[in-house]
Amino acid sequence: MVVQTTFAVQPIAGALGAEVTGLDLATLDDETFTAVHDAFLEHHVLVIRDQSLSVEDQLAFGRRFGELDTHPFVDGNPEHPELLDVVTEPDDRINFGGGWHTDVTFMEEPDLGSILYAVELPPIGGDTLFANQHAAYDALSPTMQHMIDDLVAIHSAAPQYAPGGLSTQSNAMATKNAGLALAKVEHPLVRTHPETGRKGLYVNGAFTIGIKGMRSNEAKMLLDFLIAHGTHERFTCRVNWQPGSLTMWDNRSVQHFALHDYAGHTRHMRRITVKGDRPR
Ligand code: SIN
Repeated sequence: MVVQTTFAVQPIAGALGAEVTGLDLATLDDETFTAVHDAFLEHHVLVIRDQSLSVEDQLAFGRRFGELDTHPFVDGNPEHPELLDVVTEPDDRINFGGGWHTDVTFMEEPDLGSILYAVELPPIGGDTLFANQHAAYDALSPTMQHMIDDLVAIHSAAPQYAPGGLSTQSNAMATKNAGLALAKVEHPLVRTHPETGRKGLYVNGAFTIGIKGMRSNEAKMLLDFLIAHGTHERFTCRVNWQPGSLTMWDNRSVQHFALHDYAGHTRHMRRITVKGDRPR
């Protein structure tokens, strides 16, 4: 176990993710925040246990990382637009985040990270999986790395948020602005993390729709391989939620997947996101 300034950090899997205990996020001093930030960059996913956070506490913690964002296609909380109530109802067939993805890569400047706090958990199930995209890139052969290093991927919200898109089918979470979801944005297929300098795969099955300069069947073949490779179990960790858990993840280095294995039960989380920069 690695002991930080005033708290403990225990890795939860070989590739990424750590559980943090002994912290009260509502009363973080600057020195402890710096240690939390360092742990975030090192482990990519922090599962911070035993919190008792008001909405204001969660928003204030997020703002220490930067300006908060609002979701372009899902309504925020009426009192706090930066806060998204991520809800699955007992009879929902699909859940928000239910598939491997990186948050909002359809934006020119996708969010740096997301911070999710458990409000109501199902009696069993509802875990979230994460996959380390640096480890996935590092595990490719030098020849494959060389082949993909300078490729540009095309992302769009259309598969999820255009009329008939997957995420528009949730009962619990109303979507909006479907007409705007057809826009496309280009990002490097291999992204360099702006704070650590590490390279990682930057494609995902929810929003990456093509590769610049490739025919669609060529792009599909390469994307299918890279997305399957990037979410292989050896690059993953699994977060088991408990009352009082808050998990934050680095969207510049991970993909995630909210499992929907609790039909008949409600799951309610509060999500905020921190604005990021243009991927390079
Ligand atoms: C998300 O993709 O932001 C949702 C993650 C979760 O509910 O576990």
